[in-house]
Amino acid sequence: MSNKMWGGRFSERPDEIMEEINVSIDVDRHLFAQDIAASKAHAAMLATQGIITASDAKNIGKGLDTILSEIGKGGFAFKRALEDIHMNVESRLSELIGPAAGRLHTARSRNDQVATDFRLFVRDVIDETDAALAAFQQALVGRALEHAGTVMPGFTHLQTAQPVTFGHHLLAYVEMAARDRGRFQDARKRLNESPLGAAALAGTSFPIDRHATAKALLFDRPMANSLDAVSDRDFVLETLSAASICAVHMSRFAEEIVIWTSPLVGLIRLSDKFTTGSSIMPQKRNPDAAELVRAKTGRVIGALNGLLIVMKGLPLAYQKDMQEDKQGAMEGFAALSLAIRAMTGMVRDLVPDEARMKAAAGEGYATATDLADWLVRTLKMPFRGAHHVTGRIVAKAAEGGVALHEVPLSEMQAIEPKITKDVFGVLSVESSVKSRTSFGGTAPKNVASQAKAWAKRLEKERKLG
Ligand code: ARG
Repeated sequence: MSNKMWGGRFSERPDEIMEEINVSIDVDRHLFAQDIAASKAHAAMLATQGIITASDAKNIGKGLDTILSEIGKGGFAFKRALEDIHMNVESRLSELIGPAAGRLHTARSRNDQVATDFRLFVRDVIDETDAALAAFQQALVGRALEHAGTVMPGFTHLQTAQPVTFGHHLLAYVEMAARDRGRFQDARKRLNESPLGAAALAGTSFPIDRHATAKALLFDRPMANSLDAVSDRDFVLETLSAASICAVHMSRFAEEIVIWTSPLVGLIRLSDKFTTGSSIMPQKRNPDAAELVRAKTGRVIGALNGLLIVMKGLPLAYQKDMQEDKQGAMEGFAALSLAIRAMTGMVRDLVPDEARMKAAAGEGYATATDLADWLVRTLKMPFRGAHHVTGRIVAKAAEGGVALHEVPLSEMQAIEPKITKDVFGVLSVESSVKSRTSFGGTAPKNVASQAKAWAKRLEKERKLG
């Protein structure tokens, strides 16, 4: 038997391999809620426009609700022979309400249908990701407030550079997450137009009202060009781009957690909740969650690359290649969602070793820049000259195997006679961070006020919901 949805001119069944390569229900079944919502909007519009009768529309609507609850309860038998979610729903609808079901597909095609469903799906993903990122930010801000004055080493080239505060470091990720949220919101704005009613590619001769269906589905407007509406997947690409950048942020943070928890570094500790043991080495506490966040990034970027490659050679309008837009994207979005939630959990869970952080902050002559700045400020030396003098004092400290504040004043004066004992006031890690009061700098006072401002902003946003 040929396919009852499109088999009019076919007399034979498809080859098994044909069916296997063609079928998409295993993936697009996840679009069921969006598919049903779009069909309900379409049917109601068809009735308002006098294209189908009010009673047919009512039966279609009721039937679709039944299917929605059947699928929700797990009691729906998805059939591979029916290819995709659209035909599975329509076929069940005809079982439920009879021939009126056949009127639902008037003035639409699976091409505008799938484009609509997937836009709605990606829009939901964006909204869920935004909420997850807000929770991530909230967790970070809470810890940043707690550790506004906790001194840790700041690194460049992974070498001790200058002391910073742990709160400052955490707030850096709050800023990144804010830009990630902005990128998702930008994508959402451009995504939020309705393809429904573009039909196969050319529009339709029926007097449909695309503005009405767009409104019913909370789109801002219908898409203006029917060919574009069924052809482009830039909304998926754009959202995956935002997702990729966000995943890279998560991955960099995860990498820091892996480094910080290494016994060689020991700046933070994760509890049993976010570590695992080794089956052979009883002493191990592995930061598996952080490592997997780092790895999941590959799925997200892979999904973006995969879809770019699918799309790059396609002429207008719909091509079946585009059916491959969903699986990678859905897996990528799911991977990112898990990564964000895992990072949020670890932010709440981690405990910094404050004594170790402070000691490490002072290692590697981390206050050398403070010394150079003192020479500039107090002795009015040009920075280049101050840099050179400081370099010689650091070399002296290294020679004696002591920290910068342990170099005797007389030895400093042998290098630069005008240095006075006041210099010791800037050589501690606390005084170093305290002095960094420039806008955006690491001074505890700055960090506390930034964290409070963020807490307020996030709270306000939460209330507006
Ligand atoms: N399953 C298809 C997809 O995901 C739906 C659209 C099919 N359209 C078609 N003309 N065969 O792209």
